[in-house]
Amino acid sequence: MKNPQNDSNRDALVEARGLMRRDAQRGQILLHPTDFALEAGQRVVLTGPSGSGKSVFLRALALLDPPDGGELLWHGKTVGRTQIPSYRRHVAYLRQRPALIDGSVEDNLRYPWSLAVYRGSAFDAARVTSLLNAAGRDRDFLTRDAAELSGGEAQIVALVRVLQLDPEALLLDEPTASLDPESARTVETLIAHWFERERAARATVWVSHDPAQAQRVGERHLTMRAGVLSEAAGAFIDNPATGAPQ
Ligand SMILES: Nc1ncnc2c1ncn2[C@@H]1O[C@H](COP(=O)(O)OP(=O)(O)OP(=O)(O)O)[C@@H](O)[C@H]1O
Ligand SMILES: [Mg+2]
Repeated sequence: MKNPQNDSNRDALVEARGLMRRDAQRGQILLHPTDFALEAGQRVVLTGPSGSGKSVFLRALALLDPPDGGELLWHGKTVGRTQIPSYRRHVAYLRQRPALIDGSVEDNLRYPWSLAVYRGSAFDAARVTSLLNAAGRDRDFLTRDAAELSGGEAQIVALVRVLQLDPEALLLDEPTASLDPESARTVETLIAHWFERERAARATVWVSHDPAQAQRVGERHLTMRAGVLSEAAGAFIDNPATGAPQ
Protein backbone atom coordinates (compact mmCIF):
# COMPACT_ATOMS: atom_id res chain seq x y z
CA MET A 1 0.00 0.00 0.00
CA LYS A 2 2.81 2.33 0.82
CA ASN A 3 4.87 3.65 -2.03
CA PRO A 4 7.87 5.67 -0.88
CA GLN A 5 8.38 7.02 -4.41
CA ASN A 6 5.03 8.81 -4.19
CA ASP A 7 5.38 9.76 -0.59
CA SER A 8 4.97 13.53 -0.51
CA ASN A 9 5.10 13.63 3.29
CA ARG A 10 8.38 11.91 3.92
CA ASP A 11 9.22 14.43 6.61
CA ALA A 12 6.01 13.87 8.53
CA LEU A 13 6.39 12.52 12.04
CA VAL A 14 2.97 10.98 11.82
CA GLU A 15 0.85 10.51 8.75
CA ALA A 16 -2.69 9.17 8.47
CA ARG A 17 -3.81 7.83 5.09
CA GLY A 18 -7.50 7.17 4.76
CA LEU A 19 -7.71 6.64 8.53
CA MET A 20 -11.27 5.61 9.42
CA ARG A 21 -13.24 4.67 12.52
CA ARG A 22 -16.66 3.08 12.84
CA ASP A 23 -19.01 2.51 15.71
CA ALA A 24 -18.55 -1.23 16.29
CA GLN A 25 -22.15 -1.74 17.37
CA ARG A 26 -24.10 0.17 14.73
CA GLY A 27 -21.53 0.37 11.97
CA GLN A 28 -21.96 4.13 11.76
CA ILE A 29 -18.89 6.01 10.56
CA LEU A 30 -17.36 8.09 13.35
CA LEU A 31 -14.34 9.29 11.38
CA HIS A 32 -14.58 9.45 7.60
CA PRO A 33 -11.43 8.37 5.71
CA THR A 34 -8.92 11.02 6.72
CA ASP A 35 -5.58 12.09 5.30
CA PHE A 36 -3.44 14.05 7.70
CA ALA A 37 0.27 14.71 8.09
CA LEU A 38 1.85 16.08 11.23
CA GLU A 39 5.20 17.62 10.39
CA ALA A 40 8.01 18.16 12.85
CA GLY A 41 7.87 21.68 14.27
CA GLN A 42 4.11 22.00 13.78
CA ARG A 43 1.66 23.02 16.45
CA VAL A 44 -1.83 22.08 15.28
CA VAL A 45 -5.05 23.18 16.92
CA LEU A 46 -8.18 21.13 16.34
CA THR A 47 -11.57 22.67 17.01
CA GLY A 48 -15.14 21.63 16.26
CA PRO A 49 -18.48 21.06 17.92
CA SER A 50 -18.95 18.60 20.73
CA GLY A 51 -19.52 15.09 19.37
CA SER A 52 -17.96 15.87 15.98
CA GLY A 53 -15.23 13.25 16.33
CA LYS A 54 -12.19 15.15 17.62
CA SER A 55 -11.45 12.58 20.34
CA VAL A 56 -12.20 9.70 17.98
CA PHE A 57 -9.60 11.13 15.57
CA LEU A 58 -6.97 11.79 18.22
CA ARG A 59 -7.39 8.35 19.79
CA ALA A 60 -7.11 6.72 16.36
CA LEU A 61 -3.99 8.79 15.69
CA ALA A 62 -2.56 7.61 19.02
CA LEU A 63 -3.41 4.01 18.07
CA LEU A 64 -5.40 3.70 21.27
CA ASP A 65 -8.38 2.52 19.21
CA PRO A 66 -7.70 0.32 16.20
CA PRO A 67 -8.44 1.91 12.81
CA ASP A 68 -11.28 0.37 10.78
CA GLY A 69 -9.64 1.52 7.57
CA GLY A 70 -6.56 3.23 6.24
CA GLU A 71 -3.11 3.22 7.72
CA LEU A 72 -0.88 5.16 10.02
CA LEU A 73 2.73 5.93 9.22
CA TRP A 74 5.41 6.99 11.63
CA HIS A 75 8.49 8.56 10.01
CA GLY A 76 7.20 7.22 6.71
CA LYS A 77 6.74 3.60 7.81
CA THR A 78 3.51 1.81 8.60
CA VAL A 79 3.22 1.14 12.32
CA GLY A 80 3.02 -2.63 12.72
CA ARG A 81 1.32 -4.34 15.64
CA THR A 82 4.57 -5.00 17.49
CA GLN A 83 5.63 -1.34 17.18
CA ILE A 84 2.52 0.04 18.82
CA PRO A 85 3.96 0.30 22.38
CA SER A 86 7.01 2.11 21.04
CA TYR A 87 4.83 4.36 18.88
CA ARG A 88 2.68 5.26 21.88
CA ARG A 89 5.78 6.15 23.84
CA HIS A 90 6.84 8.65 21.20
CA VAL A 91 3.42 9.88 20.14
CA ALA A 92 1.74 10.38 23.48
CA TYR A 93 -1.93 11.05 24.10
CA LEU A 94 -3.03 13.19 27.03
CA ARG A 95 -6.68 13.08 27.95
CA GLN A 96 -8.93 15.64 29.57
CA ARG A 97 -9.38 13.69 32.80
CA PRO A 98 -6.12 12.08 33.84
CA ALA A 99 -6.17 8.48 35.03
CA LEU A 100 -3.73 8.02 37.89
CA ILE A 101 -2.88 4.78 39.66
CA ASP A 102 -3.32 4.33 43.42
CA GLY A 103 -0.30 5.48 45.39
CA SER A 104 1.86 8.56 45.60
CA VAL A 105 2.75 11.06 42.89
CA GLU A 106 6.16 9.39 42.69
CA ASP A 107 4.52 5.96 42.20
CA ASN A 108 2.65 7.43 39.28
CA LEU A 109 5.76 8.97 37.76
CA ARG A 110 7.70 5.73 38.17
CA TYR A 111 4.92 3.60 36.74
CA PRO A 112 5.78 3.92 33.00
CA TRP A 113 9.32 2.76 33.67
CA SER A 114 7.96 -0.59 34.87
CA LEU A 115 6.58 -1.27 31.38
CA ALA A 116 8.51 -3.45 28.94
CA VAL A 117 8.82 -0.70 26.35
CA TYR A 118 10.99 1.35 28.73
CA ARG A 119 13.35 -1.46 29.62
CA GLY A 120 16.88 -0.13 29.47
CA SER A 121 15.97 3.34 30.68
CA ALA A 122 15.18 4.43 34.20
CA PHE A 123 13.31 6.96 36.27
CA ASP A 124 15.36 10.16 36.45
CA ALA A 125 14.67 11.95 39.73
CA ALA A 126 16.55 15.11 38.70
CA ARG A 127 14.63 15.39 35.46
CA VAL A 128 11.31 14.89 37.21
CA THR A 129 12.19 17.43 39.89
CA SER A 130 13.08 19.95 37.22
CA LEU A 131 9.75 19.36 35.46
CA LEU A 132 7.89 19.69 38.76
CA ASN A 133 9.76 22.90 39.55
CA ALA A 134 8.70 24.31 36.19
CA ALA A 135 5.16 23.51 37.30
CA GLY A 136 5.72 25.36 40.59
CA ARG A 137 5.89 22.18 42.68
CA ASP A 138 8.78 21.09 44.91
CA ARG A 139 10.07 17.62 45.84
CA ASP A 140 7.48 17.24 48.63
CA PHE A 141 4.88 17.01 45.91
CA LEU A 142 6.28 13.54 45.05
CA THR A 143 5.01 12.12 48.34
CA ARG A 144 1.43 13.36 47.94
CA ASP A 145 -1.31 10.75 47.64
CA ALA A 146 -2.54 10.74 44.04
CA ALA A 147 -6.13 10.18 45.18
CA GLU A 148 -6.08 13.47 47.08
CA LEU A 149 -4.82 15.72 44.30
CA SER A 150 -6.97 18.43 42.80
CA GLY A 151 -7.92 18.12 39.14
CA GLY A 152 -5.21 20.60 38.16
CA GLU A 153 -2.55 18.81 40.20
CA ALA A 154 -3.56 15.44 38.78
CA GLN A 155 -3.23 16.82 35.24
CA ILE A 156 0.24 18.17 36.05
CA VAL A 157 1.24 14.69 37.25
CA ALA A 158 -0.19 13.10 34.10
CA LEU A 159 1.71 15.60 31.96
CA VAL A 160 5.02 15.19 33.81
CA ARG A 161 4.55 11.42 33.55
CA VAL A 162 4.41 11.81 29.77
CA LEU A 163 7.08 14.53 29.37
CA GLN A 164 9.75 12.63 31.33
CA LEU A 165 9.60 10.04 28.52
CA ASP A 166 10.67 12.65 25.93
CA PRO A 167 7.88 12.07 23.42
CA GLU A 168 8.28 13.57 19.96
CA ALA A 169 4.60 14.38 19.52
CA LEU A 170 1.84 15.18 21.98
CA LEU A 171 -1.82 14.58 21.16
CA LEU A 172 -3.61 16.79 23.64
CA ASP A 173 -7.31 16.15 24.06
CA GLU A 174 -8.62 19.20 25.92
CA PRO A 175 -5.98 18.76 28.61
CA THR A 176 -7.00 21.93 30.44
CA ALA A 177 -10.76 21.89 29.95
CA SER A 178 -11.64 21.19 33.56
CA LEU A 179 -8.81 23.18 35.14
CA ASP A 180 -8.69 26.57 36.84
CA PRO A 181 -6.89 29.26 34.79
CA GLU A 182 -3.67 29.02 36.81
CA SER A 183 -3.38 25.24 36.39
CA ALA A 184 -4.27 25.60 32.71
CA ARG A 185 -1.40 28.09 32.25
CA THR A 186 0.97 25.77 34.09
CA VAL A 187 0.06 22.94 31.73
CA GLU A 188 0.55 25.25 28.73
CA THR A 189 3.92 26.37 30.08
CA LEU A 190 5.18 22.82 30.62
CA ILE A 191 4.16 21.86 27.11
CA ALA A 192 5.74 25.01 25.64
CA HIS A 193 9.04 24.26 27.41
CA TRP A 194 9.07 20.71 26.09
CA PHE A 195 8.31 21.94 22.56
CA GLU A 196 10.90 24.73 22.56
CA ARG A 197 13.65 22.41 23.77
CA GLU A 198 13.64 20.62 20.44
CA ARG A 199 11.25 22.50 18.24
CA ALA A 200 12.55 21.11 14.96
CA ALA A 201 11.79 17.54 16.00
CA ARG A 202 8.55 17.91 17.93
CA ALA A 203 4.91 18.54 17.19
CA THR A 204 1.56 18.86 18.91
CA VAL A 205 -2.10 18.43 18.06
CA TRP A 206 -4.18 20.28 20.63
CA VAL A 207 -7.96 19.99 20.87
CA SER A 208 -9.44 23.07 22.48
CA HIS A 209 -12.80 24.76 22.80
CA ASP A 210 -11.18 27.97 24.03
CA PRO A 211 -10.37 30.44 21.18
CA ALA A 212 -7.88 32.37 23.31
CA GLN A 213 -6.02 29.19 24.15
CA ALA A 214 -6.20 28.04 20.52
CA GLN A 215 -4.35 31.22 19.53
CA ARG A 216 -1.64 30.60 22.09
CA VAL A 217 -0.99 26.93 21.42
CA GLY A 218 -1.03 26.52 17.66
CA GLU A 219 -0.43 28.03 14.25
CA ARG A 220 -2.12 25.48 12.00
CA HIS A 221 -5.86 25.19 12.47
CA LEU A 222 -7.98 22.14 11.67
CA THR A 223 -11.69 21.72 12.19
CA MET A 224 -13.78 18.62 12.66
CA ARG A 225 -17.41 18.44 11.62
CA ALA A 226 -19.50 15.25 11.69
CA GLY A 227 -16.41 13.07 11.41
CA VAL A 228 -14.86 15.06 8.56
CA LEU A 229 -11.52 16.75 9.17
CA SER A 230 -10.71 19.94 7.26
CA GLU A 231 -7.96 22.47 7.16
CA ALA A 232 -9.44 25.78 8.34
CA ALA A 233 -9.24 28.58 5.79
CA GLY A 234 -7.59 31.04 8.15
CA ALA A 235 -5.80 30.77 11.43
CA PHE A 236 -8.11 31.90 14.18
CA ILE A 237 -10.89 34.39 14.65
CA ASP A 238 -9.47 37.79 15.58
CA ASN A 239 -5.94 36.68 14.82
CA PRO A 240 -4.11 39.95 14.19
CA ALA A 241 -1.15 38.03 12.77
CA THR A 242 -3.12 36.85 9.77
CA GLY A 243 -6.27 38.93 9.80
CA ALA A 244 -7.86 35.93 8.17
CA PRO A 245 -11.43 34.92 8.84
CA GLN A 246 -12.01 31.44 10.19
N1 LIG B 1 -15.95 3.84 20.82
C1 LIG B 1 -17.06 4.42 20.36
N2 LIG B 1 -18.11 3.68 19.93
C2 LIG B 1 -19.22 4.27 19.46
N3 LIG B 1 -19.40 5.59 19.36
C3 LIG B 1 -18.41 6.37 19.77
C4 LIG B 1 -17.19 5.84 20.28
N4 LIG B 1 -16.38 6.87 20.61
C5 LIG B 1 -17.06 7.99 20.31
N5 LIG B 1 -18.27 7.70 19.80
C6 LIG B 1 -19.23 8.66 19.28
O1 LIG B 1 -18.59 9.39 18.23
C7 LIG B 1 -19.02 10.73 18.23
C8 LIG B 1 -17.81 11.66 18.32
O2 LIG B 1 -17.28 11.54 19.64
P1 LIG B 1 -16.00 12.33 20.14
O3 LIG B 1 -15.77 11.88 21.54
O4 LIG B 1 -14.89 12.12 19.18
O5 LIG B 1 -16.49 13.84 20.08
P2 LIG B 1 -15.64 15.14 20.36
O6 LIG B 1 -15.58 15.94 19.09
O7 LIG B 1 -14.35 14.79 20.99
O8 LIG B 1 -16.58 15.93 21.38
P3 LIG B 1 -16.20 16.81 22.69
O9 LIG B 1 -15.82 18.16 22.19
O10 LIG B 1 -17.47 16.82 23.47
O11 LIG B 1 -15.10 16.09 23.42
C9 LIG B 1 -20.00 10.89 19.37
O12 LIG B 1 -21.29 10.77 18.85
C10 LIG B 1 -19.67 9.71 20.26
O13 LIG B 1 -20.80 9.27 20.97
MG1 LIG C 1 -13.57 14.97 22.88
